[in-house]
Amino acid sequence: MYKIAVVGATGLVGSTMLRLLEEKNIPIEQLTLFSSARSAGTKVGFKDKELVVEELTEDKTMGPFDYVLMSAGGETSLTFSPLFEQHGAVVIDNSSAWRMDPEISLVVPEVNPPVLDRKIIANPNCSTIQSVGPLKILLDAFGIERVAYTTYQSVSGSGWKGIEDLRRGEQGKEPLNYPHPIYNNVLPHIDVFQEDGYTKEEVKMIEETRKILSLPALPVTATCVRVPVTSAHSVAINVTLTKETTVQDIQQLFEESPYVTLVDDPSNNRYPMPVNAGGEEGIFVGRIRKDDSLENTYHVWTVSDNILKGAALNAVQILQQLTN
Ligand SMILES: NC(=O)c1ccc[n+]([C@@H]2O[C@H](COP(=O)([O-])OP(=O)(O)OC[C@H]3O[C@@H](n4cnc5c(N)ncnc54)[C@H](OP(=O)(O)O)[C@@H]3O)[C@@H](O)[C@H]2O)c1
Repeated sequence: MYKIAVVGATGLVGSTMLRLLEEKNIPIEQLTLFSSARSAGTKVGFKDKELVVEELTEDKTMGPFDYVLMSAGGETSLTFSPLFEQHGAVVIDNSSAWRMDPEISLVVPEVNPPVLDRKIIANPNCSTIQSVGPLKILLDAFGIERVAYTTYQSVSGSGWKGIEDLRRGEQGKEPLNYPHPIYNNVLPHIDVFQEDGYTKEEVKMIEETRKILSLPALPVTATCVRVPVTSAHSVAINVTLTKETTVQDIQQLFEESPYVTLVDDPSNNRYPMPVNAGGEEGIFVGRIRKDDSLENTYHVWTVSDNILKGAALNAVQILQQLTN
């Protein structure tokens, strides 16, 4: 039985983690819920109990806690994760604050189990998680030479604020979060722009892919786009393999893998879509095609619920891996 804290318990990811802790019957002796001062005092149901959310302050990091599930943004994590760690807890963090720290494991359980040099473990970016799942299968079978991503990311990737902007747009109101309307629009802009013209989201996908797959020199590029979809991200992956193969071999590998679900029957209009993947735990793959413009190169289309496998579920799976 574990003493667990959830930080950001009132957020989209945090509230989903709570639901998963309950559904997956994680053995919990004590559950403590934290938010900022804004939501402190909110009552949240967990199993047959009602828990009151507390404001996270430095003194409360003493716990004691065995595991802390953090999903409250980078600044909060930078301040509080080391304090939880100092007081003996293992922190699983959803923000981007620690992901590229060389001492910190960046984990997708089925791809790269955690190494506990530090007691902080980082959950990767949502679009990265659903991409490295299928890429790891291809890497093990054929080797990988190069990856190019184009993403189609849902508004729930920005938390409650993103959903609010889409709803406001539907009602003809101006956005409060994004720089332009997301309703009836597509924004080639996620997170802040860097000097080289890439956005931070694109840099995250590039760097995190290399780290998770342990291929520091892998050529990777990305274009990240926000689309007016409520939940589930889509990623078009263009991948160059080392060994020659065929579309049929790739389809068979995906079909046999427990980590992805193949939906690839274009003649019957069957391919992965957010309307089907939203609310589901899997990583769905389809539209497998040869890219004849480059040698040994294939297109793979992947769709997954960004709040589930892209965030809360992956974090809870890391917890399950550590506690099993
Ligand atoms: N949405 C996704 O698809 C996704 C995917 C991967 C990773 N993430 C990451 O997960 C984190 C949470 O995202 P979200 O989508 O759940 O956002 P959200 O819906 O906006 O929720 C943010 C949560 O953080 C809490 N919080 C903010 N400042 C805090 C502080 N100083 N101390 C304690 N709690 C604080 C908020 O509490 P209040 O209610 O009091 O404001 C709220 O519970 C972010 O780091 C995000 O980058 C999100």
